[in-house]
Amino acid sequence: MKVLIIGRGGREHSLGWKISQSPMVSKIYFAPGNYGMKSLGELINISEENIEELCEFAKKEKIDLTIVGPESSLALGVVDIFEKNGLKIFGPRKIPAQIESSKDFAKNIMKKYKIPTGNYEVFKNLQEARKYLEKNGVPMVIKEDGLKSGKGVTVAFSMEEALDALERAFKNGDNKILMEEYLKGEEFSIIALVNGDRVIPLEIAQDHKRVFEGEKGPNTGGMGIYSPVDRISEEIQRETMEKIMIPMAQAMVAEGIPFTGFLFGGIMVTEEGVKTIEFNGRFGDPEAQGILPRMKSDLLEIILKLLEGEVSPVEWEKDYTLGVVMASEGYPERSYLGDSIGGLENCEDLVFHMGTKEDSTGEIVTNGGRVLCVLGRGRTLKEAQKKAYENVSKIRASKLFYRKDIGNRDI
Ligand code: AMP
Ligand code: GLY
Repeated sequence: MKVLIIGRGGREHSLGWKISQSPMVSKIYFAPGNYGMKSLGELINISEENIEELCEFAKKEKIDLTIVGPESSLALGVVDIFEKNGLKIFGPRKIPAQIESSKDFAKNIMKKYKIPTGNYEVFKNLQEARKYLEKNGVPMVIKEDGLKSGKGVTVAFSMEEALDALERAFKNGDNKILMEEYLKGEEFSIIALVNGDRVIPLEIAQDHKRVFEGEKGPNTGGMGIYSPVDRISEEIQRETMEKIMIPMAQAMVAEGIPFTGFLFGGIMVTEEGVKTIEFNGRFGDPEAQGILPRMKSDLLEIILKLLEGEVSPVEWEKDYTLGVVMASEGYPERSYLGDSIGGLENCEDLVFHMGTKEDSTGEIVTNGGRVLCVLGRGRTLKEAQKKAYENVSKIRASKLFYRKDIGNRDI
C-alpha cells in the first residue's frame, strides 16, 4: 500500500515511523514533512493547506490511504475533497472538524448531550466580557475562538492578567471569546480512533503545557510527554470513555455529522468527576510521540479495519515512554529559525523531529518553534526519564531550550 501522511511535525514523524513498520506498506509520502522523515519515505513539497494539490497528488500516485496530522488541513476540508474524489482518508470532514476549530461549536454539543465540561459564556465584545469578569472574578479561563496551536488560552489568577487576556484576544482580531469556569484537578490526554459510533481508545498520556519548569509561563502546544500515566486509574479512564469519548462520538452521529479520525480529549479529573477541557480532531503533538512507540499492534491495519466499521483490539508494551521537547529560544511567542543542530547521530533512542530542515549546505537546522522530541524508554518512568535526558545531553544546539522536569510529578 502507498500511504500519504499530511503534516510536518513530530506527530507526523511518529505516525510515519509507526506506519512504516506495517508489512502492508510499500511506500510512505510526507507532505510536506521535515528532515526527520526523509529516512522513512519521500518528502513531497506541497503544503498541508494546499488541499487541492494534495488531492491531485494522491490521485496521480494512486495513494491507498491518507492520514491527516494537523488541524489546519482538516479545517480547510481536506477530507471532504479527498472523499469526493474517491480517495480513502482518515480524519474528520470539515464540519465535524469544528469540534476543535470552534470552541463554541464543541461546547454546544457537549451542553446538548450532557457531556461533562466547565460552565462557560461566549462574548462578542470587550465591554460585555469585562462586565462578566468583574461580576465573577478570578480564577477565570479565557479562550480565543479558532485554531491557536494550544496558545490561545489564558488561565488567569489575577484581574490584571484576565483583563490583559481579554484585551489581547479582541485586539488579535477575534470577534468571539469564551470565558470558562476554572477546573481544578489532574489533567491528562486521551486519544481514541473513531469512525461514527465505533470508538477504539488508545493508552493515555501526560502532556506538559506550560513553557517553563514548575508549570510557569504561557501555554504551548506541549513541552514534554509521558505514557502511561499511573496517577490516572483504570477506573477514571473507563469513566472518561463512558461519560465523554463514547457519548461525543454518538452525539456527532445523532447530529448527522459523524466523526472519523483521531478524537483527542483533554480531560480534567475534578472532585465532581471527569470533565472535558477540550476536544481536538486529530492526534496530539507530542502525545503521538509518547503513545505510538508503545503500541504493539499494526496501526495501519487498525485504521483500515475501522474505516470498514470493524473495531480491533490494541496491544501495548508495558514499558514507559518519556519525551522531552527541545524548542527554539523565544517559543511560544517567536522562534529563532535556521540554527544548526548537531549530535543527533549519538542519540540511543528515538528522536522525533518537530521542526527541522536541511539547509542549502546539507546541514540540519531548526525550522519551527518546537524542534525535536527526544525520547527515552524504560521499565519505569524514572528509567525512561533518565534515558531521555541522557539523549538530550548529546544534542548540540545553542539556541534550543527544554524543560528539565518532564515526568517529575509522577516520579
Ligand atoms: P485548551 O487549548 O483548551 O486545551 O487549553 C490549554 C490548557 O489550558 C489546558 O491544557 C489546561 O491546562 C488549561 N485550561 C483550559 N481550560 C481550563 C479550565 N477550564 N480550567 C483549568 N485549566 C484549563
Ligand atoms: N499537545 C496538545 C495538543 O496536541 O493539542
